[in-house]
Amino acid sequence: MLRFLLEILLCFAAMANLFNSSALAEVLTCSNIVPMRNRVDKISITDFGGVGDGRTLNTKAFREATYRIQHLNRRGGTLLYIPPGVFLTESFNLTSHMTLYLARGAVIKATQITENWPLIAPLPSYGRGRERPGGRYISFIHGDGVHDVIITGENGTIDGQGDVWWNMWRQRTLQFTRPNLVEFVNSEHIIISNVIFKNSPFWNIHPVYSSNVVIRFVTILAPHDSPNTDGIDPDSSSNVCIEDSYISCGDDAVAVKSGWDEYGIAYGRPSSDITIRRLTASSPFAGIAIGSETSGGVENILAEHINLFNMGVGIHIKTNSGRGGTIRNITMSHVYMENARKGIKISGNVGDHPDDKFNPNALPIVKDITINNVWGVKVLQAGLIQGLKDSPFTEICLSDINLHGLAGPTSPPWKCSDVFGAARQVSPSPCSELSSNQPGSCANYF
Ligand SMILES: *[C@@H]1O[C@H](CO)[C@@H](O)[C@H](O)[C@H]1NC(C)=O
Ligand SMILES: *[C@@H]1O[C@H](CO)[C@@H](O)[C@H](O)[C@H]1NC(C)=O
Ligand SMILES: *[C@@H]1O[C@H](CO)[C@@H](O)[C@H](O)[C@H]1NC(C)=O
Repeated sequence: MLRFLLEILLCFAAMANLFNSSALAEVLTCSNIVPMRNRVDKISITDFGGVGDGRTLNTKAFREATYRIQHLNRRGGTLLYIPPGVFLTESFNLTSHMTLYLARGAVIKATQITENWPLIAPLPSYGRGRERPGGRYISFIHGDGVHDVIITGENGTIDGQGDVWWNMWRQRTLQFTRPNLVEFVNSEHIIISNVIFKNSPFWNIHPVYSSNVVIRFVTILAPHDSPNTDGIDPDSSSNVCIEDSYISCGDDAVAVKSGWDEYGIAYGRPSSDITIRRLTASSPFAGIAIGSETSGGVENILAEHINLFNMGVGIHIKTNSGRGGTIRNITMSHVYMENARKGIKISGNVGDHPDDKFNPNALPIVKDITINNVWGVKVLQAGLIQGLKDSPFTEICLSDINLHGLAGPTSPPWKCSDVFGAARQVSPSPCSELSSNQPGSCANYF
C-alpha cells in the first residue's frame, strides 16, 4: 500500500515536472526571422562540368553556376545541388535568391594553392586586414551585397583545408589576412543550416554589415591549436539568430564584434539584437564572447542554454581603451560549463590596436550586463571583472551562479576592479564591489 502511494506521488511529481519544463513551454527558434524557402528551379554542379573526385578543380563550374543563377534570375530563386563527392575548388561568390544545397556526403573543399587567392579591400570598420596591414584574402565562400541566400542540405561539409594557412601564420610568412571560410558582407535574409564547417583558414562564419541572419543546426570543427579559427563572428550586424549548433574550434566559439578602434568608431555600425541559444562548444579561448573589437557598439544580446566544455573562458566580454563603443543590455543565462580556466571574465584591457593612430581617450562603456543561472564544475577561477578607472563598468548583475573548482565547492575568489553592480546567490561569493545587500541598479533583475 505504501509503495503504491509512493508510486502515485512519483507519478504526479514527474507530470508536474513535465508540464513545468518542456510540454507546455513553447520552444523558441530562429525560424521566424528568415523563413526557409523552397526553390522550384534546381540545377546541379554536375550540369556545369563539376566533378566530385577530390582532384579536379571545379572553380569554373561554381562560378558558372552562380553566374547562371544571377543572370537567368528565375522566379523564386534557384537551388544549386552539390551531390555526394568531393568538389575541390578555389573561392567563389554566392548571388541573391540562391540555395547552395549540400547532399549527404557532399564536400566542397578549398584548394590549398594559395598563390592566386583573390584579395579584397579591408573592411572600413577595421581600416586594414585583421592580422596584416592592407587588403585581405577573400573568404572561401563569399557573398557581398546579396539577399535571400541559403546554405543548407543534409549535413554535407565545407572544408577549408586551413592547415596551409595556419602554417603560414605560425611561420610568419602570411602576406595578408587569412580568408574566412564563409563571409557575408552587406547582406540580408541569410540562412545557414545543416552544414558541417571544417578546418577554416581563419574565422569560420563571418556575417558583417548584415541583418536577418539565421545560423542553426551547424557543426563547426577545427583543431584546438588552429590559430584564430573563431566559430561564428556576427560583426556590425543585427537580427542574427544562432541556435542548436556544435562548435569545437581554436578560438572563440561565438564572438560578437563591431569594428576596430578609430576605424570602427568612424564607421559607427553596431551589432544588435542577437540571440544565441542551445549551443554546445569547446575551445581554448571563449565560449560566448563579446569583443574584443566593439568600436561600433554591441547591444541587446541574449545567450541562453549554452553548454561549454574544455574551455579557456566560459563567458568573456572584452574591450580596450581606444575602442570606444558601448556594450550594453547583454544577458547570458543558463550556461553550463565543465573544465574551464575561467568562468566569467569582463575586461577593459584586452586586445591589440590596428595602429598607433587610435585615440587612447576613446574609452568603451560597459553597462547593463546580466549573467544568471550559470553552473560550472572544474572551473579554475570563478571570475574576473576589470573595468576602466575612468570608465567603470556599471549595472553588472550576477545571480544564481555556482562555479566549482577542481577539488571542491570553491574555486579561487573573484577579482574585481572599477565595477559597480550586485550579486545574488553567487558562489564562490564575488568581490565586495558586487555585494549583494545593495542591489541598486540591479534591483530589476533580482
Ligand atoms: C567576388 O566578389 C568580390 C567582392 O564583391 C569581387 O571583388 C570579385 O571580383 C568577385 N569574384 C568573382 C569571380 O566574381
Ligand atoms: C544534421 O545535423 C543536425 C545537427 O546539427 C541534426 O539535427 C540533423 O538531424 C541532421 N540532418 C540530417 C539530414 O542528417
Ligand atoms: C535588451 O535586449 C533584449 C534582447 O536580449 C531585448 O528584448 C530588449 O528589448 C532590450 N532592452 C532594451 C531596453 O533595449
